[in-house]
Amino acid sequence: MDSRPSTTMQAIQLQNPNGTAALASKETPRPQPADDELLVRTHAAGVNPLDWLICDGHLRQLLDEPLPWIPGWDISGVVESVGADVSGFEAGDTVYGMVRLPGAGGAFAEYATVKPHEVTSKPARLSHTEAAGVPMVGQTAFHALFEEAGVDADDRILIHAAAGGVGHMAVQFAADAGLRVIGTASERNEAYLRELGVDEFIDYRNQRFEDEIEPVDVVLDAVGGSVLERSAEVVRPGGVVVTLPEQPPEPLVETLQREYDAEISFFSVTDDAAPSTLQRVTERIDAGAVEPTIRNTYPLSEAQTALEKSATGHVRGKLVLTVEKDE
Ligand SMILES: NC(=O)c1ccc[n+]([C@@H]2O[C@H](COP(=O)([O-])OP(=O)(O)OC[C@H]3O[C@@H](n4cnc5c(N)ncnc54)[C@H](OP(=O)(O)O)[C@@H]3O)[C@@H](O)[C@H]2O)c1
Repeated sequence: MDSRPSTTMQAIQLQNPNGTAALASKETPRPQPADDELLVRTHAAGVNPLDWLICDGHLRQLLDEPLPWIPGWDISGVVESVGADVSGFEAGDTVYGMVRLPGAGGAFAEYATVKPHEVTSKPARLSHTEAAGVPMVGQTAFHALFEEAGVDADDRILIHAAAGGVGHMAVQFAADAGLRVIGTASERNEAYLRELGVDEFIDYRNQRFEDEIEPVDVVLDAVGGSVLERSAEVVRPGGVVVTLPEQPPEPLVETLQREYDAEISFFSVTDDAAPSTLQRVTERIDAGAVEPTIRNTYPLSEAQTALEKSATGHVRGKLVLTVEKDE
């Protein structure tokens, strides 16, 4: 039996500005929900590139809290208690979602406070470990395809980094919606991606995608840099490139749009705060059309190792921190 006081919890804290290397497992005060918040007992927390990017001092616009703070933005767990002004949730509900962005998320801990609009019911088909791999990448992939690009069933789409967190969800959404899907990854991911629904596979280490494929209607660029510029070349006139890693500079956007007659679009999942996108993702999961690949799990205390693995840039699917024993 757990003999620790109920006012504390185990959490991963960023202690000083030295980045991911400064993460430490600490006994910290358990957060109290405000009147408009839920307290969630974390069962699992998903890992995203955003975690180590923010810990390492990038994306300053997304963090407004003094050190020390608790990272982690993807959560799956059980509602422990409900603030006085919250309706629609009660203790014992199983929920998942993307918490507090901009801001320190706090999901790398045994308990986290969340706003009601940040979470929705966990998909019944998924364990907490699987569900924790979904919110950020699921919302991003869904928003990119259906809101930013406005894809149609007869579109052809090129998805870069198709085996990554965003990519593997995007491949499944696109295949489910009837699109012809072209995916880039390294050779070892070909069989995996064909299984997920990729029709044409490009081994980016040995092939130049612009030499291999017919023009596409949409590109989802989860790589950025020169891949964004090269992607504009393969979009048909009037097509769309949705790029994710960073907002491209305006002069580059103007040049690409003028040269290739392609729309270059960037958005941040942090702007998609409504729960409706995650609810639509959940519907596709419940329908059996989409499921996350969980490549590896780590105990909460090994968050630093998980973030270092994410930072290699070559994870298939998702990494997840397990906090409670899964059902
Ligand atoms: N704008 C937004 O709101 C938003 C939201 C979420 C994520 N993002 C950004 O989107 C990017 C992708 O996120 P993620 O979670 O999908 O990352 P991730 O899971 O870490 O992506 C890893 C994948 O990238 C693949 N990859 C690496 N270099 C590649 C290349 N040159 N061509 C093709 N594939 C390559 C790897 O495949 P191999 O192992 O086969 O090389 C690996 O499967 C990150 O920059 C992230 O910060 C932005």
